[in-house]
Formats: sequence, C-alpha cells, structure tokens
Amino acid sequence: MYKYMTAAEAAEFIQNGDVIGFGGFTPAGAPKEVPTAIAHRAEAFHARGEEFKIGMYTGASTGDSCDGMLARAHAILFRTPYQSNKDLRTELNNQDAHYFDMHLSHLAQELRYGFLPKPKFAIVEACEVTDEGEIVPTAGVGIMPTICRLADHIIVELNEAMPACMRGMHDIYEPLDPPLRREIPIYHVSDRIGTDCIKVDPAKIVAIVRTNRPNEVGKFAALDETTAKIGANVALFLETEIKAGRIPKTFLPIQSGVGNIANAVLGALGENPHIPAFEMYTEVIQDAVVGLMKEGHVKFASGCSLTVGADKLQDIIDHMDFFHDKIVLRPQEISNNPEVARRLGLITINTALEADIYGNINSTHVLGTKMMNGIGGSGDFTRNAYISIFTTPSTAKGGAISSFVPMVSHLDHSEHSVKVIITEQGIADLRGKSPIQRAHCIIDNCVAPEYKPLLREYLELSVKAHTPHNLALATAMHREFAKSGNMLNTKWEEYK
Ligand code: COA
Repeated sequence: MYKYMTAAEAAEFIQNGDVIGFGGFTPAGAPKEVPTAIAHRAEAFHARGEEFKIGMYTGASTGDSCDGMLARAHAILFRTPYQSNKDLRTELNNQDAHYFDMHLSHLAQELRYGFLPKPKFAIVEACEVTDEGEIVPTAGVGIMPTICRLADHIIVELNEAMPACMRGMHDIYEPLDPPLRREIPIYHVSDRIGTDCIKVDPAKIVAIVRTNRPNEVGKFAALDETTAKIGANVALFLETEIKAGRIPKTFLPIQSGVGNIANAVLGALGENPHIPAFEMYTEVIQDAVVGLMKEGHVKFASGCSLTVGADKLQDIIDHMDFFHDKIVLRPQEISNNPEVARRLGLITINTALEADIYGNINSTHVLGTKMMNGIGGSGDFTRNAYISIFTTPSTAKGGAISSFVPMVSHLDHSEHSVKVIITEQGIADLRGKSPIQRAHCIIDNCVAPEYKPLLREYLELSVKAHTPHNLALATAMHREFAKSGNMLNTKWEEYK
C-alpha cells in the first residue's frame, strides 16, 4: 500500500523553502540517503542559478550524510537545535546558515506551541513500518513523535541494517500542552509510560526508501592522562559524597554529557569500587555504557539515543535478549525533561569549553564568538540536577588557552546552577560559597599551575565588591590569545 521509491525520487517532493523535521538523535537513527539526495537536488538547482534551501529541525546533531551533505551544498536556510558537523559549523559561523541554539527539551513543545514554523515534511529512519501506520524508530528518537504528528507528509527510510527486534526498546510519549499538561509519570529510571512505536495516519506516509546503512557515529579519542585524571577525580568526588551521606548509599541516577571527556568519566565511574552499580537517566548513551552494562556496573540506561559505534550497536543487536530490558529510548522532551530530572535526583556531569573564576560556564562558543556544537541538553540537566558537575581539562591547545578566565566569553550555565567543577588538577566544590570564596576555590583546585598567578593578580586588580571584576581586564586573556596565540603572555598592565 505504501509507495517504495529511491531516495532521489523521494527528494523530488522537497521544494525550495520547505521546512523539514528529521528523526533520530545524533547520527543515531538520523536519516541518511534522503538528506543526501536533497543535497544533490539543491546542487542541481544552484547550478541552474536557482535558489534551493530548506529549514531544518533535528533531534540534535546528525550524521555527515545529512548535516555535512546539506551544509556543503549550501542548502540550509535555518537549523536548530544542535549540531556538531565540521562543515555545518563553518557554514553557520560564516553566517551562510542561520542557526539557533536551543535547550533540547524545548524543541518539540515550541513546535507544538507554534513558536516555530510547522514542518511540512518529516523524514525519519525506521526499522519497521506497518500498514496501520506504526513507525518503529531505530537507534535514536529525538523529536520524531512530534514532527510525525505535525508534518503534512512523512518520508521513511526503512533501514535494513537496523533489525525489527529493536521494537520494544522505545517508549514513545508526548505530553499534553498547557493548560492541560499533567505530571510526566516517570518515578523510576526504568518506568515506561508510552507506546513502543509512533502511530501516524498511513495516508501521510508518501514514500518509503529502503536503505541498508550503519549509523555514522565517530570513534572516541583513546583515554589520555588528562581525561583519565578527570574521570578519577569525578569518581573520587562522588565516592566522598556517598561517604558523607550527601548522596544516598544506593546512589542516584547519572546523566553524562557528550564527547570524549564524558565517555572517559563514565569508564572511571565503573572502575571505582566505591561507586555502586548505577542507573543512567541521560540524553545520549555513549560507547562506555555498553561495556559497563555487560560488566554489571550500569544496571539500566534511559536515553534518547544509542550513540555508539557500529561495533557496539552490533553487539547490542546480537545480544538483544540481554540488553532489551536494560535500555529504553525516549523522545528528547522526556529524556531531558526538567521535571523528571528534578524528581529522579540526577547527578549531572557535563563538559565545559570554558569556565570563569566565579563558576559561570561556556559550553558552546570558542573564544566567545565561534559556535562549537551547541548547548544540547546540558542546560536541561544542569539547572534541575540533584548535583550538577562540570568537567574540563584545565587548559586547551597545548596550554595556550586556560579553560579558566576572569569572565566567560559566552554564558550558557550561570553560577547559580553550577555546583562543582572538576579538572585533572582537582575538584572545586562551589556549594555554599560566596563569589570570592568560589574564585579562590577554583584557582586553588582546578586551574593549571602556570595560570594560577595570572588569575590571582586579576583578583587583586579588581574592584573590591561582591563579585570582584575589572571590566577593562575581564577579556584581556582572550585578547592576548588573539594577539600572540598564548594566554600565558597576558600582561595586565598592557590592557588597562
Ligand atoms: N577555548 C577554545 N577552544 C577550546 C577550549 C577553550 N576554552 N576548550 C576546548 N577547546 C577546543 C579543544 O581544543 C578542541 O579543539 P580541537 O577539536 O580543534 O582539538 C575542542 O574545543 C573540543 O574539545 P575536547 O576537549 O575534545 O572536548 P569534548 O569532545 O569533550 O567536547 C564540548 C567538549 C564542550 C565541545 C562538548 O561536551 C559539548 O559540545 N558540550 C555542549 C553540549 C552538551 O553538554 N551536551 C550534553 C548534554 S547531555
């Protein structure tokens, strides 16, 4: 009853200016062949001197066959809520595509509220589609339920590399909107509250494209001395909290962010004998979780995607009997939901690009201007955590950048939400401290030794007030990096 066609034929539906919602979350579960075909269509239009750009909603980042191809084809009108593709990053930092960075839990509801243009098409990857209009997602859910409901038309990539045995891993639930919204009835990490598939009117499915493609999830960097130390310090901090009775002996669910450091931190938690086996209520389930689950260190993982390498995903598929009742994949407005995060009491661990001596965090903008990836779910979790932790190496670019500066060059998480900062140098516990106490705590415990004198001098040169600052000097380290390529060369007197 459905029309099966090639990706190129399905792409013919898409016109210049169309707004499209893409399924999946990270490269996990993101459509691959239709976006590539849309990029080729855009190139053909451009070659004829005609306009062709689309508006894009996604769960988070996607794979290169989606974000990369469309960026290189200059086919993106606007893009939200998160990305991590090198070429797309270039495109939006050049202002060739308009990007707005959003808390990931907000997107689905802002689409329903009508704050953003309604998607005309939903393009989603599935492992099963039934005649009754049941669509079973693959390794990532993202905003799929909402875009499938709101879009006029749906194009499905039926990916044969993702077996139908994945059915049952998902828990699909869309809350009602205010004033009808009720509590989201998740009281335990493993609670299921929805359906195992997305149900749509079959008449909306205008095309099914058969594909056979693995997810384009990249490899993590091998553990190095710095990431290993950061991981060990996080484990030490949590061990101390359990011993002090500030975290229950039974422990609390972990949310862990994205990237190499987050992956290393999880590994370290598994290795610490004082950390009990734990559950995860998180956004992305990264590589380290698979091994930790097999070893019994992770009892259950609730997330929005299985953002794991092809080998790890195959391992899960091959051992579905073992993993099936230990993993649940939810839409991002549920996996990242502030109400649920606060209720479950999440220990949140996210990575900062830059922090300031008062505990404000920049997760997104390199040196204040260039977008790196986006805020992702870090704000959803940090603001509502039982205890919020940020990790970062104390320096970047071989020591030429201090991750700690007088004032962050862009603010994502304020001092009010950030409770603990951890580097390879040590742990800064900011709870119950005034700004000046926080500044000393961060400099003493987290800053690289070579940068400590510089930041202590900054405090001396600052206006004595509740939050000491010298506004003429607050960005001097950034300006010095722009000038000489090394923040360590900063001489305060040159910037007065
Ligand atoms: N100034 C400039 N550049 C910096 C920097 C700073 N203060 N700190 C780090 N960098 C650079 C690094 O040198 C590296 O550059 P390279 O790729 O050219 O080598 C790059 O930023 C990434 O750093 P890395 O140490 O590899 O970090 P990561 O892979 O652990 O990712 C974030 C760190 C912050 C980019 C990543 O966690 C992120 O995007 N976070 C925001 C979203 C989020 O937290 N989501 C989780 C919610 S579930």
